[in-house]
Amino acid sequence: MKRVGVGLVGFGTVGQGVVRLLRDEAEGIRTRAGVTLELRRVVDVDTRRARAVSLPPRMLTDDLAGCLADPEVLVVVVAVGGPDNARGAILPALEAGKSVVTADKAAIAAHGAFLADVARRRGVSLGIEATVGAAVPVIRVLRASVLADTVDGVAGVVNGTTNFVLTRMTEEGDSLEEALAEARARGFAEADPTDDLDGWDSVRKLAIVAGLAFGAGTRVEEIPRAGIRAVRPEHCRAARALGYAVRLVAWGRRDSRGGPPVLRVEPTLVPAADPLAAVRNEENAIRVTCRAAGDLTLAGRGAGAMPTAHALLSDALDAATGRGSVPGLPLPPPGRSAAGDDSVPAGRLVLAPEGSGLARKLEAAGLEVLVEDADAAGAGGLEAAITAPASTSLARRATGALAAAVVYPILPAAAGGPSAPAPAQVEA
Ligand SMILES: NC(=O)c1ccc[n+]([C@@H]2O[C@H](COP(=O)([O-])OP(=O)(O)OC[C@H]3O[C@@H](n4cnc5c(N)ncnc54)[C@H](OP(=O)(O)O)[C@@H]3O)[C@@H](O)[C@H]2O)c1
Repeated sequence: MKRVGVGLVGFGTVGQGVVRLLRDEAEGIRTRAGVTLELRRVVDVDTRRARAVSLPPRMLTDDLAGCLADPEVLVVVVAVGGPDNARGAILPALEAGKSVVTADKAAIAAHGAFLADVARRRGVSLGIEATVGAAVPVIRVLRASVLADTVDGVAGVVNGTTNFVLTRMTEEGDSLEEALAEARARGFAEADPTDDLDGWDSVRKLAIVAGLAFGAGTRVEEIPRAGIRAVRPEHCRAARALGYAVRLVAWGRRDSRGGPPVLRVEPTLVPAADPLAAVRNEENAIRVTCRAAGDLTLAGRGAGAMPTAHALLSDALDAATGRGSVPGLPLPPPGRSAAGDDSVPAGRLVLAPEGSGLARKLEAAGLEVLVEDADAAGAGGLEAAITAPASTSLARRATGALAAAVVYPILPAAAGGPSAPAPAQVEA
């Protein structure tokens, strides 16, 4: 039986999951994949800290060079965070002629094209399935889709922490702070939640997905981004009463005139019947809209040690059995912004304090109001209106005149462009 040596860099949450899965599935992997994955070294800057998973004596080391010098190690699993840390491990591993699989979206979003090029030149593979959606196999689906079909749009709920917070706000009426404390207590919110709450984690994943889907790279900083800090439980409840869920959606659409794709991350209303609204708590869901195949929606556990380990080992097995491939991750053409602001959502939810005369004022400013709810299902003294699709500039003018108005876009249909929302059910 073929034996392939594996080096693991990073023995934290994900790294320990990789060791556990390698152990638990060792026999199954041999039978099903016809290969033995043999863990040879585990590299971590901290070799003293106690961990829940034990290793054989002398397997844990802080010597990356020693791991890469081992001729038996053919695949390196990189499970460290921070673009510089991970790149600091990925690049030397590729240069040493090892295939690399990684979970670090920050490194791939920032340096993916460069690293993929190094892998190509060295004749090894770079696996990135674990960077987006953990166990949700979106990279595999995209790689297959872009060969046979044209991908016109992507839309995803790709950050588990923010989705957990939004679910708690909607269902329990929790404040952001209360929901975040609960997420921490359950062990999946970072000590510093900035990357999640401000949408940075989502834009990194969107940059990776959009690079594959549309063949156009994007600098993470150029993607319009709004996090969830301004979302209130009463907004979520008003949206639900009108037949929608508030989700932090990472969204992208191919530009029909051949320009750069339109990308954004922002709190967005998703119709309740849409699979992206059905993902609760820390789950992720991603929809890939293909010209021939239509919508493909994938959902599952988008974070956590074991789902991430699952994706890493899938990629490691592809590399070990010669099926691994280097994804095309093109860099943005110099001087062109890849993220325009010309998208027209499929309507908007506008919320304003009770007594604002919201619907009347919106119509006076030129927006068509499809649904109005003067009491927003009793959601904290707000009145709500859902408008028909309109340009961003008209919507800004109309809502800018309203004091304390809050605006949420409604998720556009990725393939066919914006469509008016289905009539919403307003609760008595
Ligand atoms: N946790 C998840 O659910 C999840 C899901 C998907 C993707 N990811 C990604 O997976 C990666 C690892 O996440 P994690 O949650 O496992 O992080 P973690 O628990 O902090 O583990 C990382 C480990 O690597 C060590 N380390 C840091 N820099 C290193 C270096 N240059 N060389 C060797 N070891 C180094 C860290 O040591 P110190 O603690 O001493 O720095 C720590 O022990 C990140 O890129 C993350 O974004 C995580």
